[in-house]
Amino acid sequence: MGEARRRRAAAALPGASAPSPASGTGQEASATPRTALVRRVLSAWPRGASRRALGGLHGPAHRLRVWHNAMLLTAATPGADAEVAELFALIHDSRRVSDGDDPEHGTRAAIFAVQLAAEGWLRLDISRLELLRAACEQHEMGDITADPTIGCCWDADRLELSRLGVRPNPALLSTNAALNEGVLALAWERGMSWTAEPGLAAAWGLDPKALARRW
Ligand SMILES: [Fe+2]
Ligand SMILES: [Fe+2]
Repeated sequence: MGEARRRRAAAALPGASAPSPASGTGQEASATPRTALVRRVLSAWPRGASRRALGGLHGPAHRLRVWHNAMLLTAATPGADAEVAELFALIHDSRRVSDGDDPEHGTRAAIFAVQLAAEGWLRLDISRLELLRAACEQHEMGDITADPTIGCCWDADRLELSRLGVRPNPALLSTNAALNEGVLALAWERGMSWTAEPGLAAAWGLDPKALARRW
């Protein structure tokens, strides 16, 4: 393995500690393994993708709110892998080509996740990579699951229906944590506001003010 690739692999996102949603200061070091990966993912726009898919309903602000939701869900769900859930948040909609009906964007995201791992961006063993791959691939199917990590991923995304003014159907939530009234209320407020927690935006190297734009 070359030196540059070895360094990337040694400092990949799963080794980075996640900030608390409440502890963000808006300050961020110039470059971290997490921000480098975010840049890699956000710069890899699918051929033919519309601008809206990249900054609108499924862009960085949505993905940050999915991460925020996932942090709360994984903290309350035994056996859930918070780092895999963060990667899901970042990657799951990254291969969309439109904000509308976009069949197989989950499959494309799953392929992208495996590609990132092969390039040395993700420090995941085979079982964790398979969790990420499966969570991405099937997230658009509307299913529920007994797997705690995949359940947190899908629920975190489903709680983001709030940005459309839609309450999630409890029957389509996989985790007990997602049924918590406090979690639901906060996810609703976040989605309706279309904003992202500044501390989480900073952790991904993104400007929260820029993210406040809807399109
Ligand atoms: Fe999606
Ligand atoms: Fe999503």
